[in-house]
Order: sequence, then structure tokens, then C-alpha cells
Amino acid sequence: MKFLEPYIQLIESGLGDLDLPAKPATLYEPQRYTLSGKAKRIRPVLVLIGCGLTGNDPRKAIPAALAVELLHNFTLIHDDIMDDADSRRGRPSVHVKWDLATAILSGDSMFVQAYRQLHRLDPSADFRKIHHLFTEGINQVCEGQALDMEFETRSDVTADEYLGMIAGKTGALISASLQMGAAVGGAGEEQLNQLSLAGESLGLAFQIQDDLLDVIANPEKFGKKQGGDICEGKKTILMLTTLERCKADERQRIMAAIAGKPLSDELVEWITLLYHQYGAIESAREMMGSYYAKAEKAVKTFDDSTYKEDLTKLIHFLKNREY
Ligand code: IPE
Ligand code: IPE
Ligand code: MG
Ligand code: MG
Ligand code: MG
Repeated sequence: MKFLEPYIQLIESGLGDLDLPAKPATLYEPQRYTLSGKAKRIRPVLVLIGCGLTGNDPRKAIPAALAVELLHNFTLIHDDIMDDADSRRGRPSVHVKWDLATAILSGDSMFVQAYRQLHRLDPSADFRKIHHLFTEGINQVCEGQALDMEFETRSDVTADEYLGMIAGKTGALISASLQMGAAVGGAGEEQLNQLSLAGESLGLAFQIQDDLLDVIANPEKFGKKQGGDICEGKKTILMLTTLERCKADERQRIMAAIAGKPLSDELVEWITLLYHQYGAIESAREMMGSYYAKAEKAVKTFDDSTYKEDLTKLIHFLKNREY
């Protein structure tokens, strides 16, 4: 994607300049490994665009963009432990390539590197505001991740509860990214609220799509195991729709299978079939489309600029992604 290139270049060069020490190798090597993986860098791009939308040079927001990407990568290392996921970005997850303790500590350290970046912000930036947006965002991610796990063993999770959970685990950081960039550019409350709304819808659409891709994507492209969510008993919108529409005996069999997770390949295959049979794939696609449309509509209310155009292009790029 041509429009993304200048942003990605700024981010990759910033990550390249991090210069993490060589030793202790078990602390820093997993971080280098994680950061060198094939990532989309969506969140830092949103930070840079957020700053551009205020009429400021996006480069001013580079430390905030790096902070967000470091934080995101830290959440992925710990998320893979929680989800017992063996692959990420087409390679072994950190806890598989190294071990559990190494993944926990290198993740923690990456969280610290994220805050270190925030301290590199230009002194003219409203540090208090940016720090607040970042910290509150992370807090919501933790709450969302806790609900994600609590829901695994529940059979009565509602669509609204699911939306609340993904708004936390994924929407919060996407929304915070746009707002942090804008805050670096000196945005006022009204502009931050506008961006928050756009970011929330974008985050919901993004996670619904991730849940969908988990089932239907080519795992080579997606870089994660196909059916990984089913295997772990995740209450994705696909699972909720199917539990609601399937027969009582099927529901019972699904919940019994989840109680004994991880599910066997045969059970994952069977549930995938049910997803198709009961139209859960199609319904999730529609839901995703409606949130992308909502995000696009929110962006339309912004003042015209090349950054507004880029944000719209980014939404289209995400909508059509296969990974
Ligand atoms: C993965 O995020 C975690 C989710 C919130 C779905 P991304 O899909 O942005 O992952 P990378 O950084 O591009 O690998
Ligand atoms: C990710 O949700 C949310 C966070 C990492 C905070 P998932 O568990 O669906 O993400 P993937 O699919 O492992 O990337
Ligand atoms: Mg996961
Ligand atoms: Mg997870
Ligand atoms: Mg996922």
C-alpha cells in the first residue's frame, strides 16, 4: 500500500534506532525477535495520522507511535501465553521459542520500553494528557483480556458483553493511538472525542475481522493457527451466534468440548462446519461491515486534509486485509 509507506518507514526506522542492549540476551533477544516479525504497524500509523489531523508534522508523534507499537507487541507476547497460541506472524511465539518465564519477563521489559519512549516526547507536548490516554488505554486492554478469559467457561455470554470485551482488549488501544497522536498535536477535547468515536468503531470492526480470519483465513498469510479461537473455547461472535442458533444437543456438545479444552482437530472442524451451517460467518461479516462503515462515517466529519484521506484509505486497507 503506497500511502502507508512513508508512515511505515518512520516507524521502522524508529524501531531500528531503539538499540536494545545485547545482554542479558534472554531479556532482549525475544524483544528483537518480536519486533522483527511481519507486523502491520496499524496502531503507530494511527498515532502519526492522529497528529497529522491536527495540522502538525506527524514526526513529532514518533515517540508516542513507538510507545504504542511496543505496548502492542508486549500484549501479544503475553496474549499468546494466555491463549496457548504456538504461532504468531508465521513464526513460533516467544514462549514456544524460548520458555514461559522468558516470555513473561521479556514482555514486562517491553512494557517498560514503551513508557521509556513516552519520555522522549517533545517538551512542548502535553505529556500529562498523553500519559493519561496511554495508561487508561492499557487498563482497558487488561480488563478486556480478563473478560476474554472469563467468557471461555461461560455459555451465556451476550453479543453486548462480547462487544464490551473487544472494545477493551482491542478497541481501547486503537482509539488511544489516534487520540495520543492528536494530543501530541495539541488537539482539544472536542477533536479528541471525535477521534475516540472513530477509533472505537474501527477497533470493534478490526477485532470482529480478526475473529473471522481466525476461522477462514489462509493460515500461511494470517500467521496464526487456523481455528485457534475454537480450540481455546473463545467466545467470539461466531461462537455466540452459533450457540444461539444451533440445536440444544449441539450446544451441549460444544460446551462439553470447551470444558475439556484444548479441542481436538475433529471438534474444531465440526464447530467450523456449524459456523458455516448456521450463518455465523455471514452474520459476523455483516457486523464487521457495519462497524467499518460507522468508523468511515465518523472520519467524514473531520476537516479535509491528506491525513483524513489517508485514514479513510487505511480503513479500506484494513477491511480488505487477509492477515
Ligand atoms: C493482533 O493485532 C491482535 C489483535 C488485536 C487482533 P494485529 O493484527 O494488529 O497484529 P500485527 O501487529 O499486525 O501482527
Ligand atoms: C488480542 O485478541 C487482544 C490483545 C492482544 C490485547 P486475540 O487473542 O484475538 O489476538 P490474536 O488473534 O492472538 O492476535
Ligand atoms: Mg490471541
Ligand atoms: Mg487473546
Ligand atoms: Mg484473534
